[in-house]
Amino acid sequence: MATILAVGIATLDVINEVASYPREDAEVRALSHSVRRGGNATNTLVVLSQLGHNCEWAGVWADEPDARILRADLDRYAIQTRYCRRVGQGKIPTSYITCSRATASRTIVHYRDLPEFDFGSFRGIPLDTFDWVHFEGRNVGETLRMMEHLRYRCPGVPVSLEVEKAREGIEALFPYANLLLFAQAFADYCGYSPEAMLQAVSENAPHADIVCTLSERGAVGLNRNGELLFSAAYPPAQLVDTLGAGDTFNAAMIDAALRGKSLSTSLERACRLAGAKCGQVGFHGLDRSRMSDGDD
Ligand code: FRU
Repeated sequence: MATILAVGIATLDVINEVASYPREDAEVRALSHSVRRGGNATNTLVVLSQLGHNCEWAGVWADEPDARILRADLDRYAIQTRYCRRVGQGKIPTSYITCSRATASRTIVHYRDLPEFDFGSFRGIPLDTFDWVHFEGRNVGETLRMMEHLRYRCPGVPVSLEVEKAREGIEALFPYANLLLFAQAFADYCGYSPEAMLQAVSENAPHADIVCTLSERGAVGLNRNGELLFSAAYPPAQLVDTLGAGDTFNAAMIDAALRGKSLSTSLERACRLAGAKCGQVGFHGLDRSRMSDGDD
């Protein structure tokens, strides 16, 4: 069991499932409706907790009624929040999500009225108590300061970075990570194939394992020896809920790295767990039994 810190967001996800994605200005009935905690960093922690790790979240809390839903879910998975910054004003970041049953797409309108977690709050965390630190690739300037500080203070602590979206200057973060976790949208934005993107990034991060998810095609990785590796996807019998599949993949990658797995094995385990996630609503029950290679 490892002790893991993740820096990033928790959101309130207001989810409507519809038969197919509506055209603009249409009025349609939802097939189902739910309100849940979401957010990339905390989604990843909820899975890591079920994989047997001690998890700590560093982010910003707004003191408002919706925070209770988040608190209940984080408590359920024993995610600690003592290093979060609490603010009296503002709104928990809220995602209004339309999931299409026809295509399993999830269209997100995100509302945010909260400061980002900053270096000033990060500096007070006793970093040497962690076996792994994971960052969301957002708020680039402050995240860079955090990653530099961590490298300087605790050079031996492994670091992962999730890069889902292109943000100005984000490549400055890459050299500070041991594990870089890209989404295909980033490669698309750069105008590269995922494989070419991994090669290009490796110039800037020669000591990192670098992976990129490919949705229904699985995932591709480049290890520190320059070997290109691939895992097919493991889709469920029925696609139920793809929201947070990438966050689940990232959790399984971190877990596998902590267990000393090769990048090839890690990719396969992560694709299996992400596939299991797509076959169920939410994250509950995504534990070791769902990776089913029986090898710890
Ligand atoms: C899924 C997710 C949602 C959240 C959104 C934030 O990956 O974390 O739970 O609303 O992305 O970008």
